[in-house]
Amino acid sequence: MSLFKVYPLNPIAITKALGSHVWDDKGQAYLDMYGGHAVISIGHTHPHWVKSIEEQLHAMAFYSNSVIMPIQEKLATALNEISGKNNYQLFLCNSGAEANENALKLASFHTGRKKIISFQKAFHGRTSLAVAATDNPSIIAPVNETDNIIFLPFNDVAALETCFVQNPDAIAAVIIEGIQGVAGIYEASDLFLQAIRKNCDQYGAVYIADSVQCGYGRTGQFFAHDHAGVDADIYSMAKGMGNGFPIGGILIAPHIQAKFGMLGTTFGGNPLACAAALAVIEVMQKDNLIKAAAEKGSFLIHALQQIKGVKVVRGRGLMIGFEMEEGFADLKKILLNDFKIFTGEAKPNVIRLLPALTITTAEIEIFLIGLNKAVQQLSNTKA
Ligand SMILES: Cc1ncc(COP(=O)(O)O)c(C=O)c1O
Repeated sequence: MSLFKVYPLNPIAITKALGSHVWDDKGQAYLDMYGGHAVISIGHTHPHWVKSIEEQLHAMAFYSNSVIMPIQEKLATALNEISGKNNYQLFLCNSGAEANENALKLASFHTGRKKIISFQKAFHGRTSLAVAATDNPSIIAPVNETDNIIFLPFNDVAALETCFVQNPDAIAAVIIEGIQGVAGIYEASDLFLQAIRKNCDQYGAVYIADSVQCGYGRTGQFFAHDHAGVDADIYSMAKGMGNGFPIGGILIAPHIQAKFGMLGTTFGGNPLACAAALAVIEVMQKDNLIKAAAEKGSFLIHALQQIKGVKVVRGRGLMIGFEMEEGFADLKKILLNDFKIFTGEAKPNVIRLLPALTITTAEIEIFLIGLNKAVQQLSNTKA
């Protein structure tokens, strides 16, 4: 049997990982500035994380959500503490798309409405509603097409207000990434997030903060949306949450009430995933990783701004995108093949950096040396 070929693969097999490094099957080391796609928050195979999962595995790997799960309650308490979202409620699932799917469904149940406002270049996942709210027609199957999603320009307060005025009783939710990731690292402005809060309050809609990529401390606040100083009604989370162990979830404001059966899942909130997620929060607190993300991020952003060929640097904390001038289309490939550094990208010319929050200054410096050399190499071939 062959694998269903949906991913254009790098011809590299990663078989070992530790901290901000991974190794291939031939023993070659790579610096991971991509964090396995923003997933690795506390570093690959962190010993406390490994131990927590191992202990849970020996105690009890799985039972259904029909019984009390003390570890889920422990996770809810820890999330309250680290996020500061007092009295919010937690629903657990397995991935980012599922988190957004549940958030959107919940907003519709809560308001009794159907229309969702999403934004140009947004990415919210690949399940039916999440993908419909994603601004990329090439990944929307005909069955997922719906006229319930309204796409508006990003950071455009006037367009948002006009839409609410024209549909005063129809909007169930506004869903927005605090920093658009897949699009190429574009920050929602504080003013825009504040306008979303105000309009959702005025028209009775639910503000959903998609924090799947930009959440979990990556930007120097627990949620990137927190920089705007207003609360969302629902926060979706996934990538950094389990440090690679699949888990997702939504934090739900106290005024949104649960009803038996309205949401549900077999595997969501399973004890192994909760053990992984608890270990992540414990390490984040113990090592002050949210503050570290802000500091390391500022250092990295400033250093990137000094590099020849870099046109613009965007992002906050350790969620960074830098756009190159023309002629550097092969930069990501050269960083990987010649300098053994994994990075992410957004077409056509943005390199995305999403390293573990535990990355050290020395590792960032190694990256910067590699980047400078790669840029030099490409400049020489251009000349
Ligand atoms: C902002 C955002 N939302 C949702 C998702 C979907 O998450 P998952 O791939 O875990 O379903 C992603 C994944 O990249 C994302 O970046």
